[in-house]
Amino acid sequence: MKITVIGAGNVGATTAFRIADKKLARELVLLDVVEGVPQGKGLDMYETGPVGLFDTKITGSNDYADTANSDIVIITAGLPRKPGMTREDLLMKNAGIVKEVTDNIMKHSKNPIIIVVSNPLDIMTHVAWVRSGLPKERVIGMAGVLDAARFRSFIAMELGVSMQDINACVLGGHGDSMVPVVKYTTVAGIPIADLLPAETIDKLVERTRNGGAEIVEYLKQGSAFYAPASSVVEMVESIVLDRKRVLPCAVGLDGQYGINGTFVGVPVKLGKNGVEQIYEINLEQSDLDSLQKSARIVDENCKMLDSIIG
Ligand code: NAI
Ligand code: 2OP
Repeated sequence: MKITVIGAGNVGATTAFRIADKKLARELVLLDVVEGVPQGKGLDMYETGPVGLFDTKITGSNDYADTANSDIVIITAGLPRKPGMTREDLLMKNAGIVKEVTDNIMKHSKNPIIIVVSNPLDIMTHVAWVRSGLPKERVIGMAGVLDAARFRSFIAMELGVSMQDINACVLGGHGDSMVPVVKYTTVAGIPIADLLPAETIDKLVERTRNGGAEIVEYLKQGSAFYAPASSVVEMVESIVLDRKRVLPCAVGLDGQYGINGTFVGVPVKLGKNGVEQIYEINLEQSDLDSLQKSARIVDENCKMLDSIIG
């Protein structure tokens, strides 16, 4: 298994390190436009091998030739959000970057699975899909795993219980229009509505929606990366080990939930072929309306990019 991570910044480097540490790749390439950074971080990670006990071949590079024949490519290249900046502010800049990155990936790898992380997530996943020419099941956006992890953490904090027993369902776009689905959020199978008052649940839902901004406010420069990188690696692991985990991911819908052609977060089965099944779950009308509204926002933004992505 050869895995390439594009962007050797906070999310990219942390993702690469976790992939090596979990022994998910035989060969790992970390690529960035900045000279020296992927080489330095890559070598530092490689030197962890003897004490971390992995034998992954790690290459830091500025040259796409080194990414040749990758099985999985993770795109984290782009600009992170700054305080006061919305994800949509990043739209134009990052669309140009993701377009360039995807074009370069496809020059050297025939049929990779691409996982997109760059923001605004759902729109960048659309850009990568258009530019790659790959089937929809091989271009997947990471956001739902992170948003659900945040919701699960906040529920665990509130109830003082292990995070392990909490399952959360968060659908829709990665941003203010995300749709945490309370009906399918449980603690050891018990619906959270049976454990927490409605106003507490509302607060946790709101905190989840603002989960990214909360970290940005603390860091001042840059955005979250530990939880995002771990969320990417959960997806990578399901693909590499063909585990067939059911995870919320941004995927291109073809009529499911009444949504056509838009990349948005829904539960999917992830295995060695990428997205192996899209689950269309029974939603309350208000959640379905929110999901469709979220998809419309993604769609409108994608239309603005026609001139950039061709
Ligand atoms: P960062 O600034 O630490 O790293 C970004 C890296 O991309 C930099 O090293 C930069 O040199 C590189 N880069 C820029 N243009 C490039 C190009 N054309 N080719 C190759 N590399 C290029 O940012 P961070 O924190 O790693 O975030 C990366 C992206 O991921 C941002 O867009 C951020 O908003 C997004 N993100 C998305 C999340 C999600 O849930 N989907 C969660 C966290 C971050
Ligand atoms: C996050 O949710 C910035 O999208 C990123 O942390």
